Amino acid sequence: MKPLFALSLLFAALPALAQDIGTLTADTKKTVLPVVPKVVNAMQEAVAAKGVAGAIPVCKEQAPALIKEKRQETGWDIRRVSLKTRNAERGTPDLWEVRQLADFNIRAANGEKIDTLEKSEIVTIDGKQVFRYMKALPVGDVCLNCHGAAENFDAGLKAKLAESYPHDQATGYTKGQIRGALTVKRPL
Ligand code: HEC
Repeated sequence: MKPLFALSLLFAALPALAQDIGTLTADTKKTVLPVVPKVVNAMQEAVAAKGVAGAIPVCKEQAPALIKEKRQETGWDIRRVSLKTRNAERGTPDLWEVRQLADFNIRAANGEKIDTLEKSEIVTIDGKQVFRYMKALPVGDVCLNCHGAAENFDAGLKAKLAESYPHDQATGYTKGQIRGALTVKRPL
């Protein structure tokens, strides 16, 4: 291939890729993000109706079930991850996700609003192109009940958490921090 032709191909490809990322991001958000307010609302309702310990199933079962539903509907890999997990088996980030979570913290420290923190990228995994999307999950008031200062938890809640999560790292958060992220891997 002549170098000039190769170069023009490259330039022709660049804007297309940028546009693809924009379209993929919009489509992914539209499909996946409705899960977030659903869980937050369910959590608020459950804490009000059943108390904090009684609301554990919302984060433990309901959120994973809603995510699983989306996974089955789309065929994409969708998870919740965190740098400080409560359930390491489900929530441990891979290297790309660790980088984005660290970057979210830096961007937040630099004044970016955490409810809009997100990242999209097309990466190559095992020789195949994959679209990756990640969205920060902020710590709101209701989250502090189970992810805030552990010394404020009542004995019943402490016991319940200790029983299921002996290696719990997901406490000590304050309002406005980043609890973790919703992460999507979409084969192209
Ligand atoms: C009633 C207690 C409770 C409240 C309130 C709560 N969580 Fe959780 N959270 C849990 C439990 C229990 C787990 C472990 C779930 C599992 O076993 O997969 C968890 C796990 C998570 C995870 C997955 C990563 C990890 O640490 O394992 C994220 C993300 C998360 N919570 C975010 C939130 C956010 C955001 C809020 C506020 C909207 C919130 N949680 C409120 C109990 C709670």
